[in-house]
Amino acid sequence: MNSETIRARYGPWALVAGSSEGLGAAFAHAAAARGLHVALVARRSDALDRVAKEIRDEYGVETRQLVADLSEEAAPGQIAAAVADLEIGMFISNAASEPQGPFLDLPLAEHLFAIDVNCRAPLALAHHLGQPMVARKRGSIVIVTSLGGLCGLPVFSSYGATKAFGWNLGECLWDEMAPHGVDALSFVVGSTRTPNLERSGAPEAHLETAVAPQIVAANLFEVLDQGPTQYSLPEVEEAARGLFAMPRKEAVGFFSQQNHAAFPSRAD
Ligand SMILES: NC(=O)c1ccc[n+]([C@@H]2O[C@H](COP(=O)([O-])OP(=O)(O)OC[C@H]3O[C@@H](n4cnc5c(N)ncnc54)[C@H](OP(=O)(O)O)[C@@H]3O)[C@@H](O)[C@H]2O)c1
Repeated sequence: MNSETIRARYGPWALVAGSSEGLGAAFAHAAAARGLHVALVARRSDALDRVAKEIRDEYGVETRQLVADLSEEAAPGQIAAAVADLEIGMFISNAASEPQGPFLDLPLAEHLFAIDVNCRAPLALAHHLGQPMVARKRGSIVIVTSLGGLCGLPVFSSYGATKAFGWNLGECLWDEMAPHGVDALSFVVGSTRTPNLERSGAPEAHLETAVAPQIVAANLFEVLDQGPTQYSLPEVEEAARGLFAMPRKEAVGFFSQQNHAAFPSRAD
């Protein structure tokens, strides 16, 4: 999709939740490169300011930084109020919390935090920001999800479950909003070399196979109107098809083996 079409269908502002680094920052750059102004949301204001400055300097668009913790129940409403004077034509839900370790070894609070960030916040933001899009009869909502949402994801149990929630939600939004001119999409991301992945303790061999966030972001902007589900790379789609075709026992076993090997948990 060319930049002119993107601005006409999804401009003038994009809001990217979780855009202080990594994939979220890459989505923000990709939106700005296509001429959209960008509202950036995350907890670390210094990191947000850095990304915002890069975007303004490089593309000459406007930015607005919103410091918010998406685990807080009030955050989505406060964010919506803080951008009520802007026409948000695109919402990308990227922020995620990823508790890592055996389910019972992690404090309950970590699992519940992930549900708030990965489920409550995207749902509430899509509700707040989707209403004006439907009224204007144009816009785009992207829920970033993961191959790990396809079946049980040992070592990342609550994270995987929240990614299944997001995947499902994005597909419903695609169906319900299409008649109102709004394109929604679940965007299934495979291994991507972000600071977050680097901090996870994954071995270098795993990191080396992870793709650059800029490639994933560019691919998203090619498929915004091709919901209900799209994948970050053709290889990710191929892997998803393989997993869908497996008996559930085998699919969960595949992730179990891979994750216990690649992500030594606190208890291993
Ligand atoms: N990287 C991968 O290999 C991979 C694979 C599959 C799917 N994904 C999906 O891709 C998306 C990006 O993941 P990533 O790991 O690569 O991370 P990322 O985009 O590098 O960073 C996550 C962003 O979310 C923000 N964030 C985290 N918790 C937040 C909170 N409570 N409130 C507000 N902002 C918060 C972080 O900023 P602050 O710390 O400043 O708040 C950061 O900007 C996620 O939805 C993930 O599920 C990634």
